Amino acid sequence: MAAPVVDAEYLRQVEGARRDLRALIASKGCAPIMLRLAWHDAGTYDAKIKTGGANGSIRHEEEYTHGSNAGLKIAIDLLEPIKRKHPKITYADLYQLAGVVAVEVTGGPTVDFVSGRRDSSVCPREGRLPDVKKGAPHLRDIFYRMGLTDKDIVALSGGHTMGMAHPERSGFDGAWTKEPLKFDHRAAEGGIRGTFETSN
Ligand code: HEM
Repeated sequence: MAAPVVDAEYLRQVEGARRDLRALIASKGCAPIMLRLAWHDAGTYDAKIKTGGANGSIRHEEEYTHGSNAGLKIAIDLLEPIKRKHPKITYADLYQLAGVVAVEVTGGPTVDFVSGRRDSSVCPREGRLPDVKKGAPHLRDIFYRMGLTDKDIVALSGGHTMGMAHPERSGFDGAWTKEPLKFDHRAAEGGIRGTFETSN
């Protein structure tokens, strides 16, 4: 699909969507699943062949039904009214903006947001996201494919400062930290110490 024209009206709608996202995420307490949606749309990227990535393709049933995306339809549906209200914004931009707002409203850093991602209806094959049951060589394969480094793996895994695992989605259960709706360094500390704090 064509790249969106990022003109004054597009940017006005981005700011409107940002306000609506803040309200939605605060009222539903859904920051973690919004960050996971942004990551799972983006994390299919292949830097060599330039396919996948933050292109909104996860909105299609073919992709959101991948095992690794279990549960993310909830976030996709929550964002649909915001997309309808601000129709110029691409799904690709909206999903990344949802991730940015999720980090901000939970106390994380302000993330610069650059608009202009184009939507795609081409879904990547299943298996481009990391499999939690596989080890470090697998993680490296996946993140190096995205053009990222070991340092990036460690930094991005800090995303688990938020949210929790759900048995019906991943087969795992419990939060990484004691305050799963707060963006802090607890997940990293847990990872370094090799601990896993559960909610029970
Ligand atoms: C390093 C490889 C990664 C693996 C193997 C992994 C695996 C998982 C698994 C198994 C879950 C539980 C899903 C559920 O049961 O609901 C999860 C949740 C989550 N992941 Fe990751 N993840 C990885 C990287 C990331 C990254 C890079 C981010 C964001 C920067 C991220 C953000 C999240 C969030 C926010 C949740 C909580 C979702 C919720 O509470 O609904 N993950 N991840």
